[in-house]
Amino acid sequence: MAVLGSTGSIGTQTLDVLAAHPDAFEVVALAAGRNEALLADQAARHRPRETVLAKDEPDRLEAIATRDDVDLVVVATGGIVSLRPVLAALRAGKIVATANKETLVAGGHLVMPEARARAAAVAATTPGDPMASPLAWLRPIDSEHSAIWQCLVGEPLNRVASLVLTASGGPFLDGPADLSSVTPDQALRHPTWSMGAKITIDSATLANKGLEVVEARWLYDVDDAAIDVVVHPQSVVHSAVRFVDGSLKAQLGTPDMRTPIQYALTYPDRRPSPSAAVDLVEAGRLDFRRPDETRFPALRVAREAGRIGQRATTALIAADDVAVERFLSGSLRFDEIPALLAAAVARFGEGPDQAPDVDALLALDGEVRAAFSRGPIGAAG
Ligand SMILES: NC(=O)c1ccc[n+]([C@@H]2O[C@H](COP(=O)([O-])OP(=O)(O)OC[C@H]3O[C@@H](n4cnc5c(N)ncnc54)[C@H](OP(=O)(O)O)[C@@H]3O)[C@@H](O)[C@H]2O)c1
Repeated sequence: MAVLGSTGSIGTQTLDVLAAHPDAFEVVALAAGRNEALLADQAARHRPRETVLAKDEPDRLEAIATRDDVDLVVVATGGIVSLRPVLAALRAGKIVATANKETLVAGGHLVMPEARARAAAVAATTPGDPMASPLAWLRPIDSEHSAIWQCLVGEPLNRVASLVLTASGGPFLDGPADLSSVTPDQALRHPTWSMGAKITIDSATLANKGLEVVEARWLYDVDDAAIDVVVHPQSVVHSAVRFVDGSLKAQLGTPDMRTPIQYALTYPDRRPSPSAAVDLVEAGRLDFRRPDETRFPALRVAREAGRIGQRATTALIAADDVAVERFLSGSLRFDEIPALLAAAVARFGEGPDQAPDVDALLALDGEVRAAFSRGPIGAAG
């Protein structure tokens, strides 16, 4: 295995899973951004053949993702930095397991054809092989997408009626009504999941759920209209699939990312896991309600960007990175985050080329960041 982003929330949990199954996995390469001390500590424990600190060697990710001795690449970085390594890894015949959203939200039109090509090559010789599916090559780690994937195993895709993505609703689900004065400390207190700062703020605004709708469209090849979002505060039902006969199949688990990480590594097999199993009696009740898109407009903005195309979703995700950074550093109010996203999509999202290549995507990402990284939102637009 190679792990890109080994020092973050997903990266460290991935190493926990790998350490629990030393007979099955070997850590060949680790890459981190700037946390030199933790990377050195991980190297001492897992003894990889190569480590990379991207702050010193930004161009090495592609090389480690395509090493001859790597079979599977775990993508646990934030941002768009892993898009090239993911494309290179798939082209080199590696399996990619990704928690990273940008890879699909911005680059779904580039990445999915590669995964489909690998699956088609297997299907041509051994049609029933578990690797004859694009999801076996591009494996989702996000708990919602893992849940949908697990529900789809063994099912004919043309019998899917819709997907149901569950959302915890974040820390402000039941108030305050006015979100203009909530602080980073309050927004970072997620009620059920423990995650990196960026995705925790995205959960509080529901932008995260919007990004997941876009990801789901690519992974499962469904229209926006066939993806429902349902708020489920207990975070036990991780997501569900509705079939044409009215059956609803869901995957349930404790809120522990080690479960979906492990499934992505062991597919199509399952192994004992360090995560606790759900106790239904202890869970007691499971609640569901519709999301409030008036208080949390980021969900609507993200869905709209997904309908426009890949320029719009690239602008959305770059703007979201900037907006969250600005909120955390005190230069943007919480309720201004969706407004900044909408402004970025309006200004940069339209255009004839809705399937930009990697260079064009990276250029657009840079333009959006430059336009919105300071000053009032209106002035930037
Ligand atoms: N955390 C979750 O539970 C969760 C759940 C679902 C999906 N996701 C998604 O998974 C991704 C990672 O999330 P996270 O919460 O784990 O983020 P995180 O804790 O912020 O970790 C990000 C990781 O990426 C590394 N990194 C940053 N720039 C890099 C570069 N240029 N090259 C190589 N590595 C680089 C960081 O290294 P340094 O720390 O050393 O700088 C760190 O290891 C995000 O896309 C997120 O949306 C996360």
